[in-house]
Amino acid sequence: MTTATKSKVFVIQHPLVQHKLTLMRRADTQTQDFRRLLREISLLLAYEVTRDLALRHETIKTPLVEMDAPVLAAEKNMVIVSIMRAGQGLLDGMLELIPTAKVGHIGLYREPTTLEAVEYYLKLPLETEQRDMLVVDPMLATGNSAIAAVDRLKEANPLSIKFVCLLASPEGIQSFHSQHPDIPIYTAAIDDYLDEHGYIIPGLGDAGDRLYGTK
Ligand code: URA
Repeated sequence: MTTATKSKVFVIQHPLVQHKLTLMRRADTQTQDFRRLLREISLLLAYEVTRDLALRHETIKTPLVEMDAPVLAAEKNMVIVSIMRAGQGLLDGMLELIPTAKVGHIGLYREPTTLEAVEYYLKLPLETEQRDMLVVDPMLATGNSAIAAVDRLKEANPLSIKFVCLLASPEGIQSFHSQHPDIPIYTAAIDDYLDEHGYIIPGLGDAGDRLYGTK
């Protein structure tokens, strides 16, 4: 279900993900459906992105016998960092699947003329150096926000970082991996190109506006 392309880009090709993504792309999909679909896809992305989590065994009692059963080795050590504001749409679903995760937020806006990312907010949990980080933002477009976020998060020295998005542009992937070749990208699709306004084509429009019904 997952295709790993060169340079650590994992495209989640599960039919449910692809179907729901198509519904999200449609211009006539309303806010409440868009939000629900993003939450549903985020559960499926979380499933794929956590495939390599380490397990340990502990002795439990079933109603019948004792057994050595697998549990997550570092269940409480994960942190999900949402790039505000659209990252929230991926965060909510992921937290349903990984309820013990801590949450960080980084606020970045795109300067409209240069499309550069400008940081306006950062809040991370304590002891980040003992945590694995999932950084979430639905759209990897120019890559500027993702690069700026990961620049900042690397200063917190986490055990690992993975970047999770819904859609990526080839330009965004190239730019992100030119700065952060060590960080894998998980995405539901790689679209055709980025237009002159920084929109992913064919894309789905402005993810934040579609998620919150703003314009
Ligand atoms: N951000 C979005 O929300 N959509 C795009 O197409 C590009 C960046």
